[in-house]
This record gives sequence, C-alpha cells and structure tokens, in this order.
Amino acid sequence: MGEDLQFSIRPMLSEDVEQAVDCFSDQYDVFDPPATVRSYLSAYPDAFFIAVTADPNDPNREQVIGVCASPIGPQDTAFFGLYGLRAEYRGRGVGTKLFQRCLDYIGPERNIGLYAAQSMQQKYMERGGFTIREHVSSVTCAGIPRSDLIEKLQHKVKSFNGDIHFVIGNDSTESNSSLVQMIINFDQAIHCESRDRLIHAVLNNSDYSTCAIVLNEQIQGYGCLRRHSRTSRFMLGPIYANNYEIALQIVTNLLARQSIEQIQSNGIIIHAIDCHHDSMRLAIEELKLEKISKSERLFRERPIKINYNLIYGLFSCDFSV
Ligand SMILES: CC(C)(COP(=O)(O)OP(=O)(O)OC[C@H]1O[C@@H](n2cnc3c(N)ncnc32)[C@H](O)[C@@H]1OP(=O)(O)O)[C@@H](O)C(=O)NCCC(=O)NCCS
Repeated sequence: MGEDLQFSIRPMLSEDVEQAVDCFSDQYDVFDPPATVRSYLSAYPDAFFIAVTADPNDPNREQVIGVCASPIGPQDTAFFGLYGLRAEYRGRGVGTKLFQRCLDYIGPERNIGLYAAQSMQQKYMERGGFTIREHVSSVTCAGIPRSDLIEKLQHKVKSFNGDIHFVIGNDSTESNSSLVQMIINFDQAIHCESRDRLIHAVLNNSDYSTCAIVLNEQIQGYGCLRRHSRTSRFMLGPIYANNYEIALQIVTNLLARQSIEQIQSNGIIIHAIDCHHDSMRLAIEELKLEKISKSERLFRERPIKINYNLIYGLFSCDFSV
C-alpha cells in the first residue's frame, strides 16, 4: 500500500451500511450489526460519516475504509460510536479526520458520550476530553447455549399468564398502533425522552422481531431479536422490562421462534450493563454466555439520566443504551 492515501469523507447512505460494518470484520461481535445501524441511520440520517477510497480491484468504484457516527439523542447529548477503520488502513490519520467530522456535526457546545474500548479509554480521556465517568460499562456476552438450556427456556413460555405480542418489521397495521405507542412510552421511561423515530424505524425493519408483554393492559417490557448479516449470530436487544421475570419471558419468547439448531450453529450475543445486577445475571447465569469485552461509558460534560434498572440488554452497543 502506497504512502499517499487518497480518501474523502462523506455522509453514509443506507446502501453503504454493509461495507461500513465490514470495517469491523476482525471484531464484529462488539459493534452493532447492519440491522441496528440501518435503524439508527433511518432515525438520524445526517449523523453517519464514512471514509472512502478507490476500490483497489476496480478504481471506478468506491471502497468504504472507515466509519463513525454521532447521533444526537435524548437530553441533547450526542453519542459517538461505530468508530472504526478497515484493519489495513488504521494508523494513517483517517480515523482522526472522521472523528473531527463528527465533532463538526455535533457542534462545540453539546455534551458527548461514548463507550470506550479498553484499548482506547486512556486516549479518549487524555486526548479527547472524555473525563466524566459514571463507572458504568457495557459488557458484551456471547456464546452457544446448550440445547437442554434452550429447551428449558422455551418450555417457560407455555406457563406464562399475560398477553404476549409480536411485531415483525413492516407490520404497522391499525390494530398495532396502540401497542406501538405503548412501546414508545416504555422506551421513554428508560431514556427520559421519546425516541419515537428510532422505535418506528425498528418496528418497520423486517430484520427485527419485537416482543412486547402486556399485563392488565399495561406494558411490562419489550425486546428485539435480529441476526448479524455477516456472522448470522442472534443478537438480543433491547431487553427492557419492569422486572427479571418479564425480561426472561421476552428473551424466551424471542428465542422460542427460532430453531434450536439455528441458535446452536450461530450463537447468541447480548450487551449487558454492569450497573444492573439482573442484567448480568440474565446473560451469565441464565443464558450461560461468556463475557467477551467491556467498554466504559465516558462523557465530556455530564452523564445523562438513564433508568438502568429497567435495562436487561442494550439496544445498541455503540449508541448509549
Ligand atoms: C480506533 C481507530 C478508529 C482509529 O483510527 P485510525 O485511523 O487508526 O487512527 P489515526 O491514524 O487517525 O490516529 C492516530 C492516533 O490517534 C488515536 N485516535 C484516533 N482517534 C482518536 C480519538 N477520537 N480520540 C483519541 N485518540 C484517537 C489513534 O488510536 C492513534 O493512536 P496511537 O498514535 O497511540 O496509535 C482504528 O484504529 C480502529 O478501527 N480500531 C479498531 C476499532 C476500535 O477499536 N474502535 C474504537 C472503539 S472505542
């Protein structure tokens, strides 16, 4: 590879998503899969940037070599994530330029948060000014649950006494509209602000299946399952619920719709949050997954208010919770 790397930075479009996620091909499991990126891109279309260069195999085509994004979410705080370069292009100044493009988009006055991979934490704190810590980390847990465990979980589904609703992408019929509003409201209770555009993007995305549990006409929680288009792994998240039993019901209902063979050949991932004991309990003790990485939440100005007690699995491992 020559020294004079020619590249440009431009906004990301939906057709760039798969190539952008391929920048993480050496560590797919700790960054969001294309389905999640597509939902965020649809809700925050101006907040994603890619670095492109001429494709070495076809100079008339572009190749995506780097990506980063900073959607401005609840509490007027931008969350910086999906930051990566294709391995062969790292260490040549492209990442710094992408990061600066996001800072320009965010503007000088706004609070910014991020999840710092352990290898980057010191640099973000010392060079990036991300010095505010709440000592909360996301913990990526992954693995292949044993088939008898999946059978046991699937069995629990049958004995539950409440209404279980499923929304599969694009199913936004009239009869669903009150359920959709309940999901938006439940999500708001966690984020202290409505994320309606994002929730609509998820519910309209056919890559997701969403399960909501309602008792006495009150929503008790909701959760989603989608697959990584590259690794085929099942990603659980969000799992947002009023209590552990409900969280477990959401997980088991989502998994019950998949075959044990599919789960066993591809595995499961959930991003837990270490400040909520039951979130770790679900991933480690219940699903018997293993911790594969940990990233601490850092902020520039202030932590944001989040109702962590309702979180059993994160929505996104890049953008807040
Ligand atoms: C982290 C990454 C995106 C940086 O991009 P890059 O093009 O390699 O970085 P540059 O050449 O522009 O940066 C030069 C230096 O600044 C650091 N740097 C880059 N962006 C930075 C930022 N936003 N804040 C602080 N330091 C930064 C780089 O780590 C590098 O440090 P070093 O000189 O100690 O090695 C890239 O290395 C990568 O894809 N890593 C794997 C994925 C990953 O860890 N992403 C971050 C998750 S938090």
